[in-house]
Amino acid sequence: MLKAIREAVDFIQKQTSFQPKTGIVLGTGLGGLVDKIDIQHKIDYKEIPHFPLSTVESHTGTLIFGNLKGEPVIAMQGRFHFYEGYDMNQIVFPIRVMKLLGIEQLFVSNAAGGINPDFNKGDLMIFQDHINLFSGNPLIGKNHDELGPRFVDMYQPYEPDWIKKGIQFATEKGFGVQKGVYAGLPGPMLETPAEYKFLSVIGADAVGMSTIPEIIAAKHMELKCFACSIITDICYGEIQPVNIEEIIAVAMKAEPNLTELIAHLIGNLN
Ligand code: HPA
Repeated sequence: MLKAIREAVDFIQKQTSFQPKTGIVLGTGLGGLVDKIDIQHKIDYKEIPHFPLSTVESHTGTLIFGNLKGEPVIAMQGRFHFYEGYDMNQIVFPIRVMKLLGIEQLFVSNAAGGINPDFNKGDLMIFQDHINLFSGNPLIGKNHDELGPRFVDMYQPYEPDWIKKGIQFATEKGFGVQKGVYAGLPGPMLETPAEYKFLSVIGADAVGMSTIPEIIAAKHMELKCFACSIITDICYGEIQPVNIEEIIAVAMKAEPNLTELIAHLIGNLN
């Protein structure tokens, strides 16, 4: 696996000498961030040796290199979900490549259902913590000591300082903003009412189908992490049938808020 990561890194470094310090996974809610990046270079996933390819039509697969608010970033346009059939090592392959390219921190976004009854559609939820309910994780198997230790401390998965700064900025801007615990499930089916109740009882504030594998791999490699959900639907009280069009519409409406929040944090990392 390390050989494959190194081959991907060598290929990228032959294409560009750009040195990113911050990685971004452009999940739901961050598509628009691309417009704020002063793009220096782009590489399609399909050109990079060993890179997985996106299967979801709405996700293109491109690595973007450029400056965001003066900070050198690498952004993944197109991410990989467990429910698409990738294994955990494939899902986090790009995160490992970005680490070897030099990133020190990772920013990730997604869409999530709101479990906490204080949450409203369109709110941003900054991750304080997560609960991994995927049937696995990317660290199972032989440990690659060059990447990180066998036993990874997860006591503070999300950078407390950025959580604080994020809440402060979003509040000042008048965005609906929350912080909370994200439960990650494999999907692709949504949850039953009993499962929503279970998630609430175990301490989840929101639920989704992504992000946790990437964060686990990132913490293994000692990257600082920030993640944020857009709460696209309500999963408490009288559960309504899921409406994917509405979920997408809510995500698109909140996207400028999340874009602004992430750009602000990346522009003020220290
Ligand atoms: N579950 C429920 N609602 C959601 C999810 C999910 O995984 N993702 C976005 N909205």
